[in-house]
Parts: sequence; structure tokens; C-alpha cells
Amino acid sequence: MERVVIKIGGSLLSGSQDDVLSYLHGLSSALAGLNNYSLGFVVGGGDTASKYVSLARELGINEYDQDLLGIMATRMNAKLIASFFPDAWPEIITSVDDARTLFEHGKIPVMGGTVPGHTTNTVAALLAEAVGARLVNLTNVDGIYDKDPRENEDAKKFDRIDYDTLISLAAEYDSREARAHFVFDLLASKVVARSGIELHIVDGRDFETVKNAILGKPHNGTVVGE
Ligand code: UTP
Repeated sequence: MERVVIKIGGSLLSGSQDDVLSYLHGLSSALAGLNNYSLGFVVGGGDTASKYVSLARELGINEYDQDLLGIMATRMNAKLIASFFPDAWPEIITSVDDARTLFEHGKIPVMGGTVPGHTTNTVAALLAEAVGARLVNLTNVDGIYDKDPRENEDAKKFDRIDYDTLISLAAEYDSREARAHFVFDLLASKVVARSGIELHIVDGRDFETVKNAILGKPHNGTVVGE
């Protein structure tokens, strides 16, 4: 069975309770019936992570402990997904190795973060690398642009880009001040590039596109590949 790792951006699980409830119901309908695919999920921390990380920063707590707080937030979101999706393995998986073992037993692992120093984009890239999967990144923008679409009205969306372009865009944003972050971080970009992982960046709220990306069909997002 073809393997697909799905990264659920934390921003999709942020906002009001009604927003999150309707998002989760929509996503679970979009994922229904994908029985011919072996899936794994990695979930971001969203506004819960931001709240705790910025509180910790204000308190002068060190970066390592800020990351640990961020990881805990990702795991809370992961637990919500693991408990809500009926076919998912109910315990949160905390290492890529354990997630791979579940994949190999035909189960559906759900992870948040793993260790300090990176983000769940990197966790998702490493999991895709370990199990030989395509990676579908569900986020709150509809693809990769040549410049920040929030600041530039004339920004142009790419349908498809190669790894070198992904890395140079991620590097450009990586060197900017905190919080202005690119849709897929630099380390994660380097992992997908080194292993030739096909990466789909899609608007997680566009369920038709989400489904098409998982099925490997044309969609409205951006595909990163050779
Ligand atoms: P996220 O992966 O949610 O960060 O991790 P993000 O970039 O905000 O994610 P998305 O793209 O919106 O989903 C939140 C924080 O948790 C810590 C980092 O501090 C990160 O910024 N973290 C997460 C780790 O230290 N290690 C991990 O493996 C994951």
C-alpha cells in the first residue's frame, strides 16, 4: 500500500471551539474511504504552542524549555486527532522509530513533536523519509509563493517547484526575525530534498485539494519534487 504522511498544521486547530470542531469534522469526512493508503499523522501545536512559548520567553525561560513546552502543545493536538479519528492508534507516538514500527504493522500512527530544536515539519519529513512516504502538508496558505503573499499583492503561486527553490525560499525566511516563518522550515526542506520526498503544500481547509493530494492527483496547492 502506498504510504502518505499527513502533517496537520497547528494553525488549523486554532481559533474558536466551533472553528476547531467544524474543521475536525470536515477533515475526518475528507479522509474517509482512503482505505487503500497507509497513513500517518504529525500534528502541530498552533496557538496553544505559541501561547506557552511566548509566555516562557517573557519569563526568561531558556530556549530548550520553550521547545519542551511547544512539544507538549503539539502532543495535546495530536491526542485530539488520535482520539477522534477512529482508525488511528490512540496513543501519541513520540519517536519516528516507533511510528515506523506502527506503519509496518498496518496501524496509523499520530505524532506531535519529538525533541527540542526543530518543528513538526521536520518530524513529518523524517517520518516520510523513514517509511518511504509522500508528504502532504496541510496548512493555512494555499501553496508556496515567490514572495510572502501577506505582504505582496503581486506574489505568484507555484504549481510545482524543485528542491533547490524550496531550500532557497526557506533559507530566506529562516534568516529573518522570529515569527515571520516560511510555510515549510529549512531543516525539513533539506530532509525532503536529500531523499527526494514528494511534498505537497496545500490549504488544509480545501478538503477537495487535501484528498487529491493524498491520492496523488492534480490539486490547487504546490508540489515540490525533482
Ligand atoms: P510546531 O511544529 O507546531 O511549530 O511546534 P510551528 O512551526 O508553529 O507549526 P505549524 O507549521 O504551525 O504546525 C511548536 C513548537 O514546539 C517545539 C518548537 O519550539 C516549535 O516552535 N517543537 C516542536 C520542538 O522543539 N520539537 C519538535 O519536534 C516539535
